[in-house]
Order: sequence, then structure tokens, then C-alpha cells
Amino acid sequence: MDFFIFFTIFSYVFLVTKACEPNNPSYINCGRDFPRIRYPFRIQGKQPHHSSHPDFELFFRQNKTYIHFPTYGDLIVKSISYNTRKLNLIDPKNCVPEVYLNLNLSLTPFSYCYILKEYTYINCSSHLSTSFVKVPCLSGSNHHVYIVETLISPPVSCNSVKTVSIPFSYSPYLFDNSFGLSLTWNLTGECDDAGIGCQSETLHNKGFFQVANDKVTDLIAFIFSVVTLFYAKMALYKVVDLENEKEKLGEIKVGKVLGEYEALNHSKCNIKVVIQ
Ligand SMILES: *[C@@H]1O[C@H](CO)[C@@H](O)[C@H](O)[C@H]1NC(C)=O
Ligand SMILES: *[C@@H]1O[C@H](CO)[C@@H](O)[C@H](O)[C@H]1NC(C)=O
Ligand SMILES: *[C@@H]1O[C@H](CO)[C@@H](O)[C@H](O)[C@H]1NC(C)=O
Ligand SMILES: *[C@@H]1O[C@H](CO)[C@@H](O)[C@H](O)[C@H]1NC(C)=O
Ligand SMILES: *[C@@H]1O[C@H](CO)[C@@H](O)[C@H](O)[C@H]1NC(C)=O
Repeated sequence: MDFFIFFTIFSYVFLVTKACEPNNPSYINCGRDFPRIRYPFRIQGKQPHHSSHPDFELFFRQNKTYIHFPTYGDLIVKSISYNTRKLNLIDPKNCVPEVYLNLNLSLTPFSYCYILKEYTYINCSSHLSTSFVKVPCLSGSNHHVYIVETLISPPVSCNSVKTVSIPFSYSPYLFDNSFGLSLTWNLTGECDDAGIGCQSETLHNKGFFQVANDKVTDLIAFIFSVVTLFYAKMALYKVVDLENEKEKLGEIKVGKVLGEYEALNHSKCNIKVVIQ
């Protein structure tokens, strides 16, 4: 048993190292600041067409890796986790609420990593009361954009822009250029739906490694369970700590951490792995 665990860890490390060698065609660009790219993703024009779906095409521009969505535009790829099938993105325009407003994932293999809820974007000619939180990056000097729950009927000075199913409403304490921009993907076809199955297949087909595949899968699932639990616990401690220090730190920070905890709670991508 111990031997198996050792063997598994050793093989896994070996597999990953091996796959990052520059002459290995299944990975490209293993630089430290770039996401590792392999099936189902590929770089435009650099990897054979048959190995990927057009929706998974990435490109480089100014030392960054991008993905293009026809309904929104280009987003920066921050990281890709193949075993959890998670794609973390950054909005180069630093306005995630605008991404939510326009990005339509329904004809793509991607979906948000979070539970979605319907919200309505409203565009108002005057300021609303302080119970509404304005989205600064969508507002101008003469118009004020808010994201409200669908059931709230918009005030008379407002036009309803669009109702969309999105992970989060706007909060000035939560949003940076990447908060809430985690997507997962679903592949049907030659590879099975579990990313892990694809991973072992793409990494290496040598008989020697086949033996370790099941163990690797178990190990990855185990590591992820532990990491997920660890972070959940950390987030909980942070909330408790901050609750204690609430008077010192003020409401703002507590709101942020609670929000983060809630986001974690709502994440679908990690849960999937634990289930496997
Ligand atoms: C890309 O990175 C190289 C090396 O780090 C740097 O010299 C170059 O200025 C960068 N280019 C851009 C457009 O940021
Ligand atoms: C809101 O309205 C203003 C002016 O009426 C317009 O310029 C702006 O594009 C609108 N914003 C959105 C998000 O619809
Ligand atoms: C997203 O695209 C689908 C298919 O084109 C369309 O039916 C749907 O209404 C769109 N959703 C939004 C919120 O625009
Ligand atoms: C992924 O694909 C399977 C089978 O095609 C489907 O049942 C499932 O709902 C899809 N999941 C998502 C998130 O699209
Ligand atoms: C976490 O999710 C559960 C079930 O979806 C919910 O009952 C609970 O209130 C959530 N906790 C937080 C802090 O959002």
C-alpha cells in the first residue's frame, strides 16, 4: 500500500514534469507565468486542428494568453486546471459586471463555476437610494447602472437593460478583475466527460504509466478534497476571526470575507471532483 502511494506520487510528478518538456507536443508553453496549454485547449495555429474544438482556441498577445468569446470579446486566461476542468479568467477591461451582462455561454461548452441567479441590469437617469449599489464601471456622469434582483420593479427613472442569469450581483468589496470569472467546460466526444480521464490519456499512453492511472485519479481526488476542505475551513476561521474583530476592522472587510466564503460555498467546479 505504502509502495503504491509512493509509486503514485512519483509517477504523477514524473508525468507532469515529462509533459512540460518543450518537445512534447501535447503541452505548449510551460513558462512560469503562463497557463499550461493542452487538449482541449490549443494555441491558434500552433497545434493541429484535429486536437481541439474551435471554442478552446487561445492566442497570445503582449505576453498574455487570451480566449475569445464572440458575445463578449477577449478575456485573459489566468490559469487552467485540467483535473477540475476549471478556467480562471481576467477581464482586461476590469469590469466583470460588463462581462456578465454580455457574455452568453449558452452556445459554448463553458459554464460558470457557480450557481446562477437571475438579475436585471437597470440604467437610470438619476441616482437611486443608497440601498442600491451602483456599478461604477458601467455608469457615466448622466447614467447610473445597477444590478437588481429580477423581482424588484425598476424605479421610474430607470430603463431595464437586460435580465441575465449570473453568479453574483455587484458588490464594491468583492469585485476585482477576476472575481467570479471561473468557468468549467463540458466535452462530449472522443474523450470521456471527466477531465481526469482525458488527462491521463493525454499525458501519456505508455503501458508503464497505465497501471498508475487509477491511483493517480484517486490521489488527485483526495488532494482536492483536502485542499477544498482546508480552504473552506480557512475561510470559516477568517469569518469567525473577523466577526471578533468586527469593531476594529469595520463592516467592510467582514462583508468581503463573508462574500468570498459564500462564493466558495457556491462553487460547482470543486464539488465535482470530490464526487468523482
Ligand atoms: C514581454 O516580456 C518580455 C520579457 O519579459 C519583455 O521584454 C517585453 O517587454 C514584454 N512585452 C510586453 C508587450 O509586455
Ligand atoms: C445607459 O444609458 C446611457 C444613456 O442613456 C447609455 O449611453 C449607456 O450605454 C447605457 N448603459 C447600458 C449598460 O445600457
Ligand atoms: C444567449 O444565447 C441564446 C442562443 O443564441 C439565446 O437564446 C439567449 O436568449 C441568450 N441569452 C441572453 C441572456 O441573451
Ligand atoms: C455536460 O454534458 C452532459 C452529457 O452531454 C450533460 O448531461 C450535462 O448536463 C452537461 N453539463 C453542463 C454543465 O453543461
Ligand atoms: C452554503 O450553502 C448552503 C446550501 O446551499 C446554504 O444553506 C448556506 O446558507 C450557505 N452558506 C453561506 C455562508 O452562504
